[in-house]
Amino acid sequence: MAGIKITGYGCAHGDRTVTNEELARVVDSSDAWIRSRTGIESRYFADNRSNLDMACEAAEMAFQRWGGDRGAVDLLLVCTFTPDLATPSVACGAAGRLGLSQKVMCLDINGACSGFVYGCTLAHAMLTAGDARCALVIGSEKISPLMDLTERGSAILFGDGAGAVVLEADGTKEFASYSDCIPESETLFCERFDPAIMMKGQEVYRFAVNAVPESIYGVLRRAGRRVEDVDWFICHQANLRILRSVAGKLDVGMEHFYVNIQRYGNTSAASVAICLSEMLEKGLLKPGQRVIITGFGAGLTCGSILLTV
Ligand code: COA
Repeated sequence: MAGIKITGYGCAHGDRTVTNEELARVVDSSDAWIRSRTGIESRYFADNRSNLDMACEAAEMAFQRWGGDRGAVDLLLVCTFTPDLATPSVACGAAGRLGLSQKVMCLDINGACSGFVYGCTLAHAMLTAGDARCALVIGSEKISPLMDLTERGSAILFGDGAGAVVLEADGTKEFASYSDCIPESETLFCERFDPAIMMKGQEVYRFAVNAVPESIYGVLRRAGRRVEDVDWFICHQANLRILRSVAGKLDVGMEHFYVNIQRYGNTSAASVAICLSEMLEKGLLKPGQRVIITGFGAGLTCGSILLTV
């Protein structure tokens, strides 16, 4: 299937670094437990920054790396389950602050931790159909205000941040996507007016270690590719043990998995976007390489995309 190219990338994060030690002063946990059970060493909280602030910082960096005319952006998707307001959307706020054209279609997508992967799937559909010419897809989350810091199962996991990509259609690139979900699950949820995240960690864990390899095999089947054809697996950063388990099930070495959970924790829809941005900035993604990006999380949702760099 005709694909898309990433022409710009950027990321941002909350303004305060919170180490495990600092967190363990508030919640009944320890640095050793958090590191060994999740791989997380610190995360960022956005005490003085909104979701919109981080989304726009990531987008400005993406525009800088791109070097193109931002007036050409005609699709803006902000993937988030933590918008600053119910309405208007973060996307509308970002379109204004970034100075985009009045012709841009902009909306938020709530696909939880699969949001960025779903957003890229939708952007691909519009770009290749000719309904959009240049898309800005942002994953941005401010989760820290939704955390009950006395609930140790979830208090240790989440962080705030944003990642952004500029996407354009490119018929020379490969693309395939695969999505599935376990509908109406309440193993991970957050009420609108009593907004502490509630999570049955073990159930989410069991879902992830099965759903992620299934999703990766699903997208490989659609693309007519094998695991060996993939250079990088960029999975949602929820727990290092989940990533190791997925690598084991695929029989792939961890050197093919990008990991930055130690610095960010789980940033939900932002995590894959931040990974992509860091990898492109470090020159880890080379032209022609095949990459699978996978998101999974609340819903319960899961989705993968195979693309070429
Ligand atoms: N610090 C110290 N001890 C903790 C703890 C914490 N933060 N959280 C749980 N524990 C304790 C439990 O009380 C339990 O103690 P017990 O054996 O005396 O009863 C023990 O550690 C094991 O608890 P368990 O829930 O089995 O831990 P776990 O190994 O499953 O790790 C999670 C908990 C939440 C880290 C893990 O289940 C997980 O990462 N799940 C997936 C969550 C996720 O990815 N969510 C986002 C999806 S997008």
